[in-house]
Amino acid sequence: MSTIAPESKILAVNKKKTIQTFRLKKERGELITMLTGYDYPTALALDRAGIDAILVGDSLGMVVLGYENTVPVTMEEMLHHCRAVARGARSALLIGDMPFMSYQVSVEQAVQNAGRFLKEGGMHGIKLEGGRERLDVIHAITGAGIPVMGHLGLTPQSVHALGGFRPQGRSSGAAKRILEDAQLLEEGGCFSLVLESVPARLSELISRRISIPTIGIGAGAGCDGQVLVVHDLLGMFDRFTPKFVKKYADFHGEMQRAFGEYIGDVLARRYPAKEHTVEMPEEEWQDLLGEIAIEKQR
Ligand code: KIV
Repeated sequence: MSTIAPESKILAVNKKKTIQTFRLKKERGELITMLTGYDYPTALALDRAGIDAILVGDSLGMVVLGYENTVPVTMEEMLHHCRAVARGARSALLIGDMPFMSYQVSVEQAVQNAGRFLKEGGMHGIKLEGGRERLDVIHAITGAGIPVMGHLGLTPQSVHALGGFRPQGRSSGAAKRILEDAQLLEEGGCFSLVLESVPARLSELISRRISIPTIGIGAGAGCDGQVLVVHDLLGMFDRFTPKFVKKYADFHGEMQRAFGEYIGDVLARRYPAKEHTVEMPEEEWQDLLGEIAIEKQR
């Protein structure tokens, strides 16, 4: 019988993932797995399951903080969640998502903010949205030694410019522009690229044309890896679910059931029961009663 504790077995199997792991996986034709994560317990579970990368996505603005979209998310909110994830993950590659207006104002500010994800957030790299218009920023951030993941297609921070959360690259002109942007991001030094809500045949073409791995979300099976928002996968966010999501659980329903049961138990005095209660030795109790009685007489 093995004497290795289950935890150490997991750690032995789950080697530290790096951007080289991404490169090697693409070269070998192995698929890359990524999910978002925003807190310590989820990071622990993702890491133990053997995920390749955890993206602390600015989607946390919607699924954790309840904002309408990702536009209001701040650097401080991102760093707070990055630190929690970094405390829970040991092997996964950790990517912090740069929030809206943290990299658009100036190249200098973009590099400073990207650096904060590594220095203060415990991340290994950053992700930012956009194509050719971001090349100077990508060049400066990678020049500072910070790995950059690009993001093309539906870029949620541009929700107002795009006229809503809608698929991108469906006309030949729009598709050509995304393909060109992907090639420019590769030349610009990105180590990987998220393709969101674009036609499957376009993401497959891009994945063949560029040497860095593509990670798809709503972009079909032809990408080099896949990512989902963890709250969508767990069925924890029921405001809306994009068509491309596969729900693996109904956590929202399960949470509501458990909360309802707790409320029922408290109201019916079933909780707390004897086994949830701290006991006091009888003689200590009698001493206390005696002391109280003496004090009352004084
Ligand atoms: O913020 C996020 O979660 C993302 C993923 C959807 C790729 O950018």
